[in-house]
Amino acid sequence: MDIDMLLEKMLQSQGFGSRKYCQQLIKNGAVSIQDEIQKDLKYRIHDLTDFNFQVFDQNYVYREKVYIILNKPKGFECSHQPHHHQSVFSLLPDLLIQRNIAAVGRLDQDTTGLLLLTDDGQYLHTLTHPKKHVPKVYHVATIDPITVDQMHQLEQGVELHNEKGVFAATNVTLLNETQLSMTIHQGVYHQVKRMIAAVGNKVTALHRHKIGQLELPNLAEGEWMYLTETQKLAAQQIT
Ligand code: URA
Repeated sequence: MDIDMLLEKMLQSQGFGSRKYCQQLIKNGAVSIQDEIQKDLKYRIHDLTDFNFQVFDQNYVYREKVYIILNKPKGFECSHQPHHHQSVFSLLPDLLIQRNIAAVGRLDQDTTGLLLLTDDGQYLHTLTHPKKHVPKVYHVATIDPITVDQMHQLEQGVELHNEKGVFAATNVTLLNETQLSMTIHQGVYHQVKRMIAAVGNKVTALHRHKIGQLELPNLAEGEWMYLTETQKLAAQQIT
C-alpha cells in the first residue's frame, strides 16, 4: 500500500488521541518505529503493509479498519450512552473506543453471544441492511414447553405489531423441552422475543450463536478478539 502519511496522522487514525496529543507522544520520545525512537514531527510513512510501531514500549500493528467479535455477557447495553446498564464498549480498550466503533446490529441487554463491532461503515451496512437478509441463529429458552404447533407457526411466519409483513424463522430445531434454535433473516426490534410471544410462549434467555456463516468462537463471556479475514467474510456469507 503506497501512501504518504505523517506519523502523527497515523497515530491519530489508530485511536491514540488528538493530533496535539499524538505530536506530544512523538516529541516526548514515546513512539518507536522498527525499535528506534522517532522524535521527528515531519517523519512520513510511505508503506503501511504490516506496519509495526511501538508506543510506550508496547507493540502495535497498523489496522486501517477494525473488526471485533465479542461474546456479549448479560447486563450490557449495545450503546455508547447506556440507560440502565453498563455499555458493551466498557469491555473494550480505550484505543478501540477512540476509533468510533459501532455495534453491527444491537442485542438486548439480557441477550448473550455473538456481537460484531467495527469502524468500517460499509461492512456494517452490508451486514445490517434489511435487503441483504443476513441470517442470524439464536438459541432460545422459553418459559413453557415448546409445542410442535408453535414451531410450525414460527416457520410459517407471524405478524408483529407495528411491523409490515410476516416474520418467519428457518431451521427451527428443538434442543430440549424448553429450548430451541431458530434462524431469522431480518433484524427488527426485539424480533425473536416478539416472534416467540406471537406464538404464545415467552423467552427467558436468548443467545446469538451465528451471523451468516460465522459461529461464535471459543471466547469466554466478555472476551473479544479481532476477526480474521476468513471470519470477516464468513459473517457476510448468506448460505
Ligand atoms: N431478538 C430479540 O428479541 N432480542 C435480541 O437481542 C436479538 C434478537
